Amino acid sequence: MAIEGVTPDAIARAARLLREGGLVAFPTETVYGLGADAANGRAVAAIFEAKGRPSFNPLIVHILDADEGERFAVFPTVASRLADVFWPGPLTIVLRRHADAPLSPLVSAGLDTVALRSPGHPVARALLEASGVPIAAPSANRSGYVSPTTAAHVAADLDSRVDLILDGGPASMGLESTVIDASSGGDAVLLRPGAVPAEDIARALGTALRSPRAIPGAAPLSPGQLASHYAPRARVRLGATHVEPGEALLAFGLPEPETAGPKINLSPGGDLREAASRFFAALRDLDAIGTDRIAVVPIPTDGLGAAINDRLRRAAAPHREK
Ligand code: TXA
Ligand code: MG
Repeated sequence: MAIEGVTPDAIARAARLLREGGLVAFPTETVYGLGADAANGRAVAAIFEAKGRPSFNPLIVHILDADEGERFAVFPTVASRLADVFWPGPLTIVLRRHADAPLSPLVSAGLDTVALRSPGHPVARALLEASGVPIAAPSANRSGYVSPTTAAHVAADLDSRVDLILDGGPASMGLESTVIDASSGGDAVLLRPGAVPAEDIARALGTALRSPRAIPGAAPLSPGQLASHYAPRARVRLGATHVEPGEALLAFGLPEPETAGPKINLSPGGDLREAASRFFAALRDLDAIGTDRIAVVPIPTDGLGAAINDRLRRAAAPHREK
């Protein structure tokens, strides 16, 4: 088993693994994270695979500081204030991505926003510095299990699914970071209560936080619904074995159904990790060329196929009125 104590050598090895597209579990002040290079789509896909998540939830991207964050996202005044007061620390800020942000679309589950956090734990910071890459990391547990606060928890849960576990002792807080949406530039919205009390955030901003539940007329949200999901403009037809006139094709594996129209193959070789890493960009690319209808071939439902099919079913469901 690949648990390593924190030595300069172990940090260097972990950093190299991240740069090469591997998965490294590491301690933060809240819980252990399962990290990958946030710019590497296949590595990010491997996180979802290792967690066994049946859907693509957006991930937190860990960075050293707000200066690094500004390479990826827009910081409205409210966000800069939050970063000044609470970073490094257990606060995650959801911000609007720059259109050309060098991050995989998969970390945002296709959304225009990205969640950024500058962790305070010395091992997390050493790993960020040594690797030089932004680190996408959800809590390092299998989907449906509780968040791990020790290296042994991670090993018990993820075992051979992770390339290296850095053992930095127990995570001191044991409660995940507070997630605040500051992407609108207006009032900050509390998306997930966590290690920084909402009262402290409100005091720092001098205004009360909006809760998603308090939006007039809106139905109560469960945590899984907090991030609205990217859905293509085009209508989506699933399980297609042929392409009808006017349809674009979203294929997986070979052979493809015949078409003279626009098409994207998520993975000609039939690799689900490659398909996951290309999925959201493919939907956006098909939208961008003005496609009205997309025919999607059957995609296997094992492994990452479950999450891809989950997103496709949502995209195929009748669009809600805006
Ligand atoms: O303390 C923590 O936050 C730990 C450590 C490892 O940093 N990470 C963690 O990640 O708890 P995870 O993936 O288990 O939870 C991330 C939360 C989810 O509730 C997710 O919906 C939200 O952040 N989130 C991420 N990106 C988002 C986005 N673009 N918009 C809205 N919510 C987002
Ligand atoms: Mg979690």
